[in-house]
Amino acid sequence: MSSKLWGGRFTQPTDKFVEEFTASIEFDQRLYRYDIAGSKAHAEMLGRQGIIEADAAAQIIAGLDAILADIEAGKVEFSVALEDIHMNIEARLIDRIGAVGGKLHTGRSRNDQVAVDIRLYLRDEIDTVLGFLDRLEAALVTQAQQNLDVIMPGYTHLQTAQPVLFSHHMLAYREMIARDISRLQDLRARFNVMPLGAGALAGTTFPIDREWVAEKLGFAGVTRNSLDSVSDRDFAIEFCSFAGILMMHLSRLSEELILWSSADFNFIELSDAFCTGSSIMPQKKNPDVPELVRGKTGRVYGNLIALLTLMKSLPLAYNKDMQEDKEPLFDTIDTIKGSVKVFADMIAQMKVKADNMRIAAARGFSTATDVADYCVRKGLPFRQAHEVVGKTVRYCVETGKDIPELSLAEFREFSALIDEDIYDYVTLEASVNARKATGGTAREAVERELARLKDA
Ligand code: ARG
Repeated sequence: MSSKLWGGRFTQPTDKFVEEFTASIEFDQRLYRYDIAGSKAHAEMLGRQGIIEADAAAQIIAGLDAILADIEAGKVEFSVALEDIHMNIEARLIDRIGAVGGKLHTGRSRNDQVAVDIRLYLRDEIDTVLGFLDRLEAALVTQAQQNLDVIMPGYTHLQTAQPVLFSHHMLAYREMIARDISRLQDLRARFNVMPLGAGALAGTTFPIDREWVAEKLGFAGVTRNSLDSVSDRDFAIEFCSFAGILMMHLSRLSEELILWSSADFNFIELSDAFCTGSSIMPQKKNPDVPELVRGKTGRVYGNLIALLTLMKSLPLAYNKDMQEDKEPLFDTIDTIKGSVKVFADMIAQMKVKADNMRIAAARGFSTATDVADYCVRKGLPFRQAHEVVGKTVRYCVETGKDIPELSLAEFREFSALIDEDIYDYVTLEASVNARKATGGTAREAVERELARLKDA
């Protein structure tokens, strides 16, 4: 037989450079375990259906098991001349068990084979990512529980806005991660259907049992259209889109961790295990991990755009272009696995500097809205209350005073509605704890949320 599995039609050998240029084995070898799992299920089905002899099926399965063991033991050198992981394994099988190995590819094409391999692979990787995301979510909740009462400045435009609980801030990120998890579960369920049986594009002439193979491989069902089965990569795009959103979330948290660990904010300390020093400035402790995650967000976005552009305008069904789907997908998986895992550990070990957060929260007239709300409760329309407090703040800026330091006489210069009880409303605790409705930053609202998460 020819060294190429498709050599029959050709009279001239492939150009050496073209061989390397068209090969994907360099990167698709990571699919080997899934390629073998798919082939074993296919072979067993062929035997059960009487499409190949039971003995042939048994030999093929034993051969594939032996090849799997060899690959895992590092005994296999893949060949560029054999182009991809599918033909490397099939050629090896034929080498090992003889011509009977050539029966494996009955009723199948590399087009439906690669479609099943990527799905099996992605499904496994998603389960790993889900495990890391659960750990990150738990770390955020634990930080919230351990720092329930810590007050920090809440910002808009990165200007001090209103005081919030640090626990509330951590739970904001938990919400984002929880949505990321649900997006990932959704897309996993959508693509967990088995494409084998589509053949090259039109289906197969053999009496295969697709449902049996699907069940064997843990799929929820089978794909419904052979053309779509071999040409669809929207599941990979959906995954990369999920990953882009996840990295966008992590980049925001990264940015805050970087700011918070600067000498100017000094709100947190990241564990030494996640930082590095400077080769010249002895005082430096750099937040490398969040910086890198912030940076890696770019390549994950890039991978999404690469896949969308790759698939744009491709006519049905399979096109060789689609071999280019793997590197962006693999890179995305590697990048988010690393990023989420390191974040879960880093957040768990982060130390919170409660005193510094509190001092910062008291600056910037963060309780000004509370004075306005107070005037509103005394009957003033909100717009006028806003004006009153605006003038009060200007007076504070000019005299170098803070809102809670003003005397009652000073307050009353701005509105006669203000009484002695104003002082009950302008402390940080009062400001925070007044925001009790679901989703607010009051201690009791955050506690209710933590309790709900515990029960969930
Ligand atoms: N290595 C190919 C890929 O990843 C496998 C499918 C090849 N099919 C084909 N008709 N050339 O896309």
